[in-house]
Amino acid sequence: MAESMQGLHRTCRCAEVTTQMVGSEVTLMGWVQKARDKGGIIFVDLRDRSGIMQLIFENGSIDEEGFAKAGKLRSEFVIAVTGTVEKRGGAVNENLATGEIEVRAKSLRVLSEAEVPPFPVEENSKTKEDVRLKYRYLDLRRPDLQRNLILKSRVMQLTRSFFTNEGFLEIETPMLGKSTPEGARDFLVPSRVHHGDFYALPQSPQLFKQLLMVAGFEKYYQIARCFRDEDLRADRQPEFTQVDVEMSFMTTDEIIEVGENMVAKVIKDVKGVDVKLPLPRMTWHEAMETYGIDKPDIRFDMKLVNLNEVVKDVDFMVFKSALENNGYVKGINVKNHASDYSRKKIDQLTELAKTYKAKGLAWLKVNNGVGEGPIAKFFSEEQMQRLIEAMNGEDNDLLLFVSDTKYMVVCDALAALRNHLGKELNLYDPKELGLLWVVDFPMFEYDDETQRYYAMHHPFTRPKESDLDKIDTDPANCLADAYDIVLNGFELGGGSQRIYEQDLQQRAFKALSLTDEQVRNKFGWFVDALKYGTPPHGGFALGLDRLAMLLTESDSIRDVIAFPKNASATCPMSKAPNSVEEDQLKELGIGVLKDE
Ligand code: AMO
Ligand code: AMP
Repeated sequence: MAESMQGLHRTCRCAEVTTQMVGSEVTLMGWVQKARDKGGIIFVDLRDRSGIMQLIFENGSIDEEGFAKAGKLRSEFVIAVTGTVEKRGGAVNENLATGEIEVRAKSLRVLSEAEVPPFPVEENSKTKEDVRLKYRYLDLRRPDLQRNLILKSRVMQLTRSFFTNEGFLEIETPMLGKSTPEGARDFLVPSRVHHGDFYALPQSPQLFKQLLMVAGFEKYYQIARCFRDEDLRADRQPEFTQVDVEMSFMTTDEIIEVGENMVAKVIKDVKGVDVKLPLPRMTWHEAMETYGIDKPDIRFDMKLVNLNEVVKDVDFMVFKSALENNGYVKGINVKNHASDYSRKKIDQLTELAKTYKAKGLAWLKVNNGVGEGPIAKFFSEEQMQRLIEAMNGEDNDLLLFVSDTKYMVVCDALAALRNHLGKELNLYDPKELGLLWVVDFPMFEYDDETQRYYAMHHPFTRPKESDLDKIDTDPANCLADAYDIVLNGFELGGGSQRIYEQDLQQRAFKALSLTDEQVRNKFGWFVDALKYGTPPHGGFALGLDRLAMLLTESDSIRDVIAFPKNASATCPMSKAPNSVEEDQLKELGIGVLKDE
């Protein structure tokens, strides 16, 4: 039976009780982590968001009724206890902040009873994630998730204070917007008033923050919710949060400085680590050449080596046919680990490479100065020497090679292998923070399927000043004034200078093969604004959830979001999304096609 907390005042949280308070009386409220009845004496671990305090119930210290109630306490009951802080009678628990003290209860109220929870509320839960997400309110009681959300809250506070101090204004932008092509898929919201018309939830506040610059606010930021209907991964959610920033009259270096100062401030505060500024910068081209990826994990070496020249005369069909078709051969050197990779383990690496569209994985193990393995027979002695030299091969090195006609296939496969091996072989200290900017992205990427260019960042990104003309004459080689901030191999954020001239914006749309009509329909409202005096402006957005995921060393972005969706974009707790009443659909003028 539940009791009232009337007349009680909670004096502090569990972990706020200190050894200095020995002898004083406290009132604590929280959840029973566990209760142990030792006959005549009952120990209870009381949990609140600060931590755990051991309570002692003993006949004599508490009246009989209270002692009887304590005997019935079960995990997850909510209780209020008044008692005296004492030095622990038993062994000190060094795992607890409050391990030297305990509270001897004088009175107990059971504020709320609890059924046996479907899984124990404990750190590093082994319970399947979908079960935990179904009872997320219990899952969130776990100390690890509590810590994560407390840290994320702290990051949000720091963000606000940083940008306020720098003279930025926090301004909200609409959730119900207009669907625009050129990004991920939109989440659409039907209009009741205008049947057949839809709002789109924002993929980011991009256009609105640019309009705030047109409107003269000069420095804007927002902790903004964004929605993208994309395939989910460990670092992606359909609904996520960005720290979104835009500013006028600032050079790229100045914008980048704001971004890295903010990230450094957060890291200093929550990790106590001094980030060395300015952060290193690497061009996109260098990142692709040496790491095979635009978000390199720079905490370890194992760089990609371009072997086109080195193997051009080698009679191995796989390499030969790639090179004859203007393709690429690249390799990585897994230093001093050849003996750790059996055939079976190499087959597993091959499978991984294949998931990135590589057709196979060629390999050699260096022994007595030469490469050994099934492809060794295709190399003359001299060719082998050149290869070993190019790969900086030494005994017990494992050399891995991918060739393909497509540059991106070679890069993707080797980058994935590199990241996998870095983790598997503990090639870096997980506590280290590998931060850098990747700059000078291409403006466009060509899609063979639709035979047109797409914006690598978004269509409002400004070309580098030196490349302005290339937007029409040589889009393939036109570089953008765009930058991404990368942490430990994850894209933490990105941004750019924006196009602020109407005619340049029209030329960018043209390069993207958008017709005048498409531009008018989709972006007319935005492009119009550019003709009324637009300041040069630029900005960036940081993924807040990703930042929190990396700072808490979580494996998944779901561990830093209170109520996330699972991998199939549903909420196991509320069962969203769900079908709705026929009447609701009618009101919206919507009929649903049955799946075939
Ligand atoms: P971009 O699309 O690169 O840029 O997004 C910025 C950052 O947002 C985070 N992010 C995500 N986090 C979780 N789940 C997702 N599905 C997801 N998608 C993106 C990433 C990413 O780096 N408007 C531009 C920014 C700008 O130019 O100012 C934008 O949205 O950390
Ligand atoms: P095969 O001639 O197909 O038996 O392949 C010989 C070796 O080359 C095997 O180890 C394959 O995994 C590897 N291989 C096949 N295609 C590629 C490729 N595109 N790049 C690198 N290695 C490959």
